[in-house]
Amino acid sequence: IPVEQFDLVIFGGTGDLARRKILPGLFRRFRAGQMPEGSRVIAAARSEMDDADYRKQMMAAIKEFGGSETKDTESLEAFVQSLHYVAVDARGDGGWSELAQLMRDGVIRAFYFSVGPGLFGDLAERLHQHAIADRDSRIVVEKPFGRDLQSAKALNATLAQHFREDQIYRIDHYLGKETVQNLMAVRFGNALFEPLWNSHYVDHIQITVAETVGVGGRGGYYDKSGAMRDMVQNHLMQLLCLIAMEAPNQFEADAVRDEKLKVIRALQPVDFHHIVRGQYEPGSGGPSYREDVENPRSHTESFVALKAHIANMRWAGVPFYLRTGKRMKGRVSEIAVVFKDIGHSIFEGDEARHRNILAIRLQPNEGMDLQVTIKEPGPGGMRLVDVPLDMTFADALGDEQEVPDAYERLIMDVIRGNQTLFMRGDEVEAAWAWTDPIIEAWEARNDVPKHYDQGTAGPEDAMMLMHRDGRRWREIK
Ligand code: BG6
Repeated sequence: IPVEQFDLVIFGGTGDLARRKILPGLFRRFRAGQMPEGSRVIAAARSEMDDADYRKQMMAAIKEFGGSETKDTESLEAFVQSLHYVAVDARGDGGWSELAQLMRDGVIRAFYFSVGPGLFGDLAERLHQHAIADRDSRIVVEKPFGRDLQSAKALNATLAQHFREDQIYRIDHYLGKETVQNLMAVRFGNALFEPLWNSHYVDHIQITVAETVGVGGRGGYYDKSGAMRDMVQNHLMQLLCLIAMEAPNQFEADAVRDEKLKVIRALQPVDFHHIVRGQYEPGSGGPSYREDVENPRSHTESFVALKAHIANMRWAGVPFYLRTGKRMKGRVSEIAVVFKDIGHSIFEGDEARHRNILAIRLQPNEGMDLQVTIKEPGPGGMRLVDVPLDMTFADALGDEQEVPDAYERLIMDVIRGNQTLFMRGDEVEAAWAWTDPIIEAWEARNDVPKHYDQGTAGPEDAMMLMHRDGRRWREIK
């Protein structure tokens, strides 16, 4: 779908996110012919440099992070011509009138706040003071959107002083992932699944986001957040919403977000015995979490597993098991819907509990498989085996369908003015309202996370969380 001509101003335009995600994503859209002629990216940051310096820097960054398409140097040269730079002081007056002069009438104005939330208020205010933002302008903000309910409310209030909710695009990049959007297609585009998608047929649901990476160079941020704030409050919560929500009456921003909000508000407070926190130890090698964040006394969690319940008619009694962690055995994000067994087997001697499982692989190896029970081929009688009906997107759709990066999609949605894949303020607040009591309880009792060895599936207690219920986690490969 074509978009209108735009000026995208990126505050923090020299930062990591701009270099790794925003600019490489825009370049791919440019190459796909989706960036209308005359559209511009205006980077605003503190350091002094000119357009030529900025273009050179970004050219290198796009080559580093942009994938195979950056071999097309002719396109890359053409793309960087649309980049501009202006030095701006977010907290002072410097650079604002230059930025104001650069803006043009008659094109869409979008402002990407790729900076810490501490600057949101300053930026919003100055954009107005200098009449740079207009009634149609969009602003884009990133996580962390607060660190608890109170700070999220304060941020929402700050932004609301200058922008309407329909101008604010809060990114959760999981919503931009192709496979996450596919969740809605699978659920609401097939006759097969929806009738079974409830407590009559579903035994439980598992959501796993396991990473092999550690905290990398982000120790300072991460140690103050932990897995609960960094992953569960946002990414896992969004996955839970998409898998559990009622069908919106149409695929439209507020219709979808209303349904997600209902799920979050229906989440029951988590029983303390149903949560496991973990922190990685060297295991087979590599530094411990505490060495990584250079805080020998850190009690921050790099792993969380929990059992949640949604108090509504569809999901009454169905547990949702969530887990996420760093430095785990493999990189796997998947959602598994485990159906109930059939209850009575007509096949003599068959004592296994056969269960249909729909596993949706979000990354890597994007696709889904449905575990079904069949007769083991051969003359040995009616023996049953469970086999996967496997569909890997790359095979099914062909290799030319390269999976686009989440940011590509999301940035274009901002320009289109489509908020469906962005979080509304009330959603973010509701999510904090659910995670806050858990985090507060940990803090109040100075909870020490369970240790787990790197390269494993997390602490033993996380296994027990399921075993106690006569269930088990799917293997992380
Ligand atoms: C980010 C978290 O939001 O998501 C990181 O801050 C995490 O800690 C990352 O590594 C995971 O994203 P992805 O797209 O690699 O699954």
